[in-house]
Amino acid sequence: MSTSATGDLDAWRELPAQQQPDWDDPDELRAVAAELAAQPPLVFAGECDQLKAQLADVARGEAFVLQGGDCAETFTGANADAVKNKLKTLLQMAVVLTYAATVPVVKIGRMAGQYAKPRSKPVEARGGLELPAYRGDAVNGLDFDAESRRNDPHRLLKAYHCSAVTLNLCRAFTKGGYADLRQVHAWNQDFVAHSKSGRRYERLAGEIDRALTFMKACGVSPDEFHGVEFYSSHEALLLEYERALTRIDSLSGLPYDVSAHFLWIGERTRQLDGAHVEFLRHIRNPIGVKLGPGTSADDALALMKRLNPEEEPGRLTFITRMGAGKIREALPPLIEKVHQSGAPVAWVCDPMHGNTFEAPSGHKTRRLDDVLDEVAGFFEVHRALGTHPGGIHIEFTGDDVTECVGGAEGLAEGDLHQRYETACDPRLNRGQSLDLAFLVAELYRKSS
Ligand code: PEP
Ligand code: CO
Repeated sequence: MSTSATGDLDAWRELPAQQQPDWDDPDELRAVAAELAAQPPLVFAGECDQLKAQLADVARGEAFVLQGGDCAETFTGANADAVKNKLKTLLQMAVVLTYAATVPVVKIGRMAGQYAKPRSKPVEARGGLELPAYRGDAVNGLDFDAESRRNDPHRLLKAYHCSAVTLNLCRAFTKGGYADLRQVHAWNQDFVAHSKSGRRYERLAGEIDRALTFMKACGVSPDEFHGVEFYSSHEALLLEYERALTRIDSLSGLPYDVSAHFLWIGERTRQLDGAHVEFLRHIRNPIGVKLGPGTSADDALALMKRLNPEEEPGRLTFITRMGAGKIREALPPLIEKVHQSGAPVAWVCDPMHGNTFEAPSGHKTRRLDDVLDEVAGFFEVHRALGTHPGGIHIEFTGDDVTECVGGAEGLAEGDLHQRYETACDPRLNRGQSLDLAFLVAELYRKSS
């Protein structure tokens, strides 16, 4: 590794870094970082480049991104059933989009590394007791007691190992036969009997089945039907962790963050002169930046120039999270200015984070109608400007949780307590995720 490459990768240390935990013991943190730096990569540079090429297709208007998973993954959630349920839902959504919208879908899990959270307040108070806020399983525990809320650097090692376990399951499920297109019905088996969205999906799966049988009878059975490409992603929040997992690729001599294929910078850490932008500027993975309603067109342009000065196709994705009430006004100026510059960018809609509110019961929730309205606004804006609505970024889980209201099953605010399990933001359940996929497919068909 040349000194200048290493120097670039550590330049962020001189800059202000938002949202970093106050670790208990800096010596312990250094020891953990050294241990992480000696671990094998979770992903390979060639895979990151392959994803970058697919995101270049998205920026050109030839493919669509489906990115999703938990707001915050948990260590206990790194088990076969939970991972399989999430993947199954992602595969079902992807099939709906591919078939009903006839567009290639780039599948990216918000999985295998999403263990750190930015927080609006550094502390949480309950019944007179004040403790550090929960910052994700990579930092501390969700339980509200002093021991659990201690910011423990050893959790970074556990985050690495849980990411490895999860990614291994994802690789096995997506390559080992489970994701074969002939399994379209199998993914739905446990769901079809008791859900309207499941039955709607079943009709579509029936059509796909007939198409496959027809193709087989014609002697066609392409390899692409037997598995899918799946990529991992998370917010690159904890810079010590991301730095320790950055390696120089032996083929190209360039640095890649091997903790995930795709990394994004959150709305709270995207300062142009901050540590996160500085660090991510130097890694060669495809990256994203979240843009909230306060983003100016100049901010977006400056981020683009800083993070993708060479205008490499597929390198940069803007993930907008404006809120249903704001997207129609807030998004057009950003797109216009960025596109005038001529640089390639993929535009993805996160319809979750601008639409969160507190229900009377105290549960943090989102209305599926608001989520759908923001997605509709995203398509309207792109259609009006002649640009490509490149994808969606969502928080969902494969389980039948009750965290967001609305959807074909009519989940109400009074139902939220029944199965509210998220460690952070409210997630769409499986039925709501499928409802969303059907709507997006419809909007896509209309706009193309
Ligand atoms: C998130 O994706 O969970 C998140 C915190 O988003 P944002 O940075 O857009 O607020
Ligand atoms: Co979230």
